[in-house]
Amino acid sequence: MRRLRARVFQPLLRETVLSKRDLVAPLFIDETAGKRREIPSMPGQFRFPPGDVPDVASDLWDAGIHAVLLFGIPRMKDAAASAAYDPAGVVQKAAGAIKETIPRMVVITDVCACEYMDHGHCGIVGETRHGPDLLNDPSLDLMDRIALSHAECGADIVAPSCMLDGVVQSIRSALDRGGYSDVAIMSYSTKFASVLYGPFRNAADSGFQFGDRSTYQVPPGNSREAVLESMLDFDEGADILMVKPAGFYLDLLSEIRTLGIPVAAYQVSGEYAMIKAASANGWLKERDVALETLTCIKRAGADLIITYFARDVAGWLDEEQ
Ligand code: PBG
Ligand code: ZN
Repeated sequence: MRRLRARVFQPLLRETVLSKRDLVAPLFIDETAGKRREIPSMPGQFRFPPGDVPDVASDLWDAGIHAVLLFGIPRMKDAAASAAYDPAGVVQKAAGAIKETIPRMVVITDVCACEYMDHGHCGIVGETRHGPDLLNDPSLDLMDRIALSHAECGADIVAPSCMLDGVVQSIRSALDRGGYSDVAIMSYSTKFASVLYGPFRNAADSGFQFGDRSTYQVPPGNSREAVLESMLDFDEGADILMVKPAGFYLDLLSEIRTLGIPVAAYQVSGEYAMIKAASANGWLKERDVALETLTCIKRAGADLIITYFARDVAGWLDEEQ
């Protein structure tokens, strides 16, 4: 085995090569921000004021990152998440501004209600026989409205992250009826009830006031349920599936990719924060860990990777040339 591990052969024989084209950069747009603010739990990530969006997108584009995933922090939260489907909402405006500045940038929008609901859950909440909880079917219309409003503002791909049963089918028919049959759906199909979303909830101000998300997200130990979630979304018409978080769940990523449609992996805020914290302490080398984790995520079968390291990776890959 060692003969071919000679340094001269290494580049020739590398099986998995991470590319900028694989990466999607998440962006937080904050309607209440006057200037960009660093997110304390995610060093190097910012909440951007709407006015900064064209510059931030141009910088990413020029660096070779050609896809973004948008999250909004609205001025107002209520019990109907009305700011989530406002045609002049924070994500809607940001999507429009990006498509206007860089028409070829792939704009993906997160379709969920948690940042817009006063209670912080992902859809409409009501009383059930087991107490207050996210109501499935009553929340579907809301997701349709949000997705449509994003499509109307130029989103290329809508990404429902609420883990409601039937949401992909519901959004697909709403988009088709609205004349947006060319807008794709990337479903957060296999989304685990993970503690690794903690820093994001801080970043997007989307923490919940009561309960948790375990009644809609997948338990981390359940593999058949995890695969079934993606199979169902595949049947409902998802164009791209997703496994989230990424690094702890690579076994499921390789299984779900056998369904045959593209699979995204989301390296989440907690994965980012762990690497950042260890690096800040001098215990790990940020660049090396980030590149290794992302290469392994690709090796396991991700067709695209959503990562907060996207912009940095672009720079690191340029240095390696
Ligand atoms: C909204 C949403 C979450 C993330 C992406 N979309 C948070 C959650 O489900 O609580 C997490 C992203 C991250 O941690 O980086 N539903
Ligand atoms: Zn949500």
